[in-house]
Amino acid sequence: MLTATRLRTDYLTDPIGLGNPRPRLFWTCDGGTAQTAYRIVATRDGDSVWDTGKVSSSKMTGHEWSGSVLLSRDRVKWRVQVWDEDDRPGGWASATFEMGLLHARDWEATWITGDYTPNKKHRYPVDQFRRSFQGRQVASARLYVTACGVYDAHLNGARVGDVILAPGFTDYHSRLYYQAYDVTDLITDGANTIEIAVAEGWYRGSIGALGARNVYGTQTKLLAQLELTYADGNRDIISTGNGWGWSDDGPLRFADLKDGERVDLNREPSYRGAARETAFSLVPTAADNVTPREKERFTPTVSRTPSGVQLLDFGQNIAGYVELTAQACRGQQLRLQFAEHLDAEGELDMAAIQVRAGKPNASPQQRIDLTLAEGHNSYKTRFAVFGFRYAIVTGDIELATKDITAIAVYSDMAQTGRFTSSHPLVNQLVQNTLWSMKGNFLDVPTDCPTRERAPWTGDAQIFTRTGTFLMDTAAFMRKWLRDLEDRQMPDGRVPCVAPDTHNNEVFGMDQLKAMAGAAGWADAAVLVPWQLYELYRDETILRDSYDMMKRHVEFQITRTNRTGLFGKRFPKADRKYISNVGQAFGEWLEPTDVYKQSVLKDLIAPHPEEATAYLAFTSRIMADVARLLGREEDIPLFEEYARGCAEAYARQFTPVDSNRQSKMVRPLAFGLLDGQTADETFAKLVAAIEARDYRVGTGFLSTPLILPVLSKWGRTDIAYRMLENEAEPGWLFQVRSGATTVWENWDGTASRNHYSPGSVCQWIFETVCGVDLTGEQEFTIAPQPGGTLTHASFSYDSIYGTVTSAWRREGDHTAYEISVPSNTIAHIRLSGGTVATVGAGTWTYREASTRAR
Ligand code: BGC
Repeated sequence: MLTATRLRTDYLTDPIGLGNPRPRLFWTCDGGTAQTAYRIVATRDGDSVWDTGKVSSSKMTGHEWSGSVLLSRDRVKWRVQVWDEDDRPGGWASATFEMGLLHARDWEATWITGDYTPNKKHRYPVDQFRRSFQGRQVASARLYVTACGVYDAHLNGARVGDVILAPGFTDYHSRLYYQAYDVTDLITDGANTIEIAVAEGWYRGSIGALGARNVYGTQTKLLAQLELTYADGNRDIISTGNGWGWSDDGPLRFADLKDGERVDLNREPSYRGAARETAFSLVPTAADNVTPREKERFTPTVSRTPSGVQLLDFGQNIAGYVELTAQACRGQQLRLQFAEHLDAEGELDMAAIQVRAGKPNASPQQRIDLTLAEGHNSYKTRFAVFGFRYAIVTGDIELATKDITAIAVYSDMAQTGRFTSSHPLVNQLVQNTLWSMKGNFLDVPTDCPTRERAPWTGDAQIFTRTGTFLMDTAAFMRKWLRDLEDRQMPDGRVPCVAPDTHNNEVFGMDQLKAMAGAAGWADAAVLVPWQLYELYRDETILRDSYDMMKRHVEFQITRTNRTGLFGKRFPKADRKYISNVGQAFGEWLEPTDVYKQSVLKDLIAPHPEEATAYLAFTSRIMADVARLLGREEDIPLFEEYARGCAEAYARQFTPVDSNRQSKMVRPLAFGLLDGQTADETFAKLVAAIEARDYRVGTGFLSTPLILPVLSKWGRTDIAYRMLENEAEPGWLFQVRSGATTVWENWDGTASRNHYSPGSVCQWIFETVCGVDLTGEQEFTIAPQPGGTLTHASFSYDSIYGTVTSAWRREGDHTAYEISVPSNTIAHIRLSGGTVATVGAGTWTYREASTRAR
């Protein structure tokens, strides 16, 4: 019987506190071949608020709410029934959602802050706020809360919800989110106490590469509203404002996202002071996003470094924190210092992950300092997240394996992709990439969880497709696209980092301001929504971002027909379509034996090759997007630049006069070259790869593109050779060197947790296993067995259900097993020549093996 499963509202499972008044409903189907009709029925307090009746349609995604108008706090139960190909109805499946506070007038609470006037130079303990109240039996209770800073709330001693570092990171000049929690079970009949701690977080704490502080404000603030609804329908609201106790004399003497915590476990907050009322310019809104949570746990092996310090190895490089217990005497000290890596001597290596390493103001500190209490102590980090695999323990006591656990913390995205093959190192590469994703998807996508922890646009652009094959990024990236748009400048320029982290200063100038609009980084404005669209087939993603996308490309067009400082001169005929002003990073971090970056050429002079290629490519995408969304008036301009830039590119940058793989990969991947020029450029790429013994030579931008280009030109054999190459530099070189996450640069001398080079996994999923989503409820499955692999399997929980493609070499034959989810079709193309279009079900094939070439 065909039934609906995985019901979601706006990509979320049973959300509370939804902000979108016209949410969209999603499901997948299970247990049959095709959905021919559906019916959605929704109720609010038992009353029907929407009934679509039986609708003839196979559509499972993006059913926009068109029932009664949704109001703040509405709790809706929705059910869906589907009919199969024989018009037989299946059973009902149900889900819920609850609206949040949709209007400013819903907030009765006023902002409060601690009773002190902060000085920018000082760092402060964590603020604790408290209020007691009389409760009686409630039918339901909700807590709406947010902070300038990061908070955690306790009701009668129990933690409210499991969100970490709420309310998350946004550009607090333009947007602040709140969370809504169901706290019905925490309210008692009688005396109740609500306590909320507020730490610095992204708002006031150290952020970005430099550990800049006070970037959004100097004063942490709290806004909370607890709404109690009784069985008789009466309501009470307990909200921040006058009458809240405050103190900053609790155990958390200091708490910073990157630097860590200093905790005195002998203290309790006195709440001796009174909170001050204050104000904040924004009305908080709902994020409609998945939130950071505690995930996997790891216990360490315990040993000593050569210098005799106690060393904990958690076995996996993660972003997260620790929980520990310790027996001690009052006043004993314990220090934990966290890092990703050990240096050549076997000591903890802070240098690779810090700026100003070795100096007292090194950033990040990644340290926990505990003053222990008499007897049993327990501690868990609350307001810091570190990038680490190792920790050293110093102070008055030591820890045993059983005393301490590392906890990974990341945004709660469901894992969508599962890959396995006969090649353990390739399997580990995919695992490492997944772990780098987990380590860097903490409310915003970051470059690394240590040195910078900055939401770099380029990194996100490079990784979105791979990331979406690995985890369900829809809600997370939709939120980040808002962050990106919040930071778009009036002239359309898109920054390199969003939200802002005051990231880089070179020669006393904010280098990143100059870098705004950088090719390959700013282009995230077009490439991220587009890649999400490709895997979610959701036009809303494009529609919501269209203005940002268009303004970005229009800005890039203003960079053509000009020559910037230190810019190379181009012949007049082509100048019109060559982008030749503005700074950028170029290809960035190619292996140093391929190309050594120089400040003048790479960080100051324009990058016409990269910039013109990206303008051609994004203009081509924009022409398609405009067509898709019916924005006919915009098409001619995008078409003109797609064509004009590609032609000028071909004339000015081919034939390629270098052996840098990126120079051949980029125009081929972006489709900038015609017939013969493309073939010649491809031949040059193959020669460059062979001359390097099949070792990778690309930097950030072309790494996701190189293996797909090889496959597109029919040389999947070379792609396998490059992927499987264990020599340095290469993906498997990292793995063979013991990596448990992906390294930033090919020699491993910088961060060890950068997802961007893991973007090669896109090729593993799309080509080794051949899974692609090529239309609405439509897949293309075209696996290309090759290399030394004897089997491979990839299973992807797509927006339309789980699709699996597996193959296995059996003697001279290859056996394929392909599973297609209900209510979808798949076009199968196998390397031995089989071509078929199939519907839901599991399909097996056996072909004489061909060698990928
Ligand atoms: C970051 C990158 C980022 C780059 C800009 C680095 O320091 O870690 O991932 O994209 O700067 O080129």
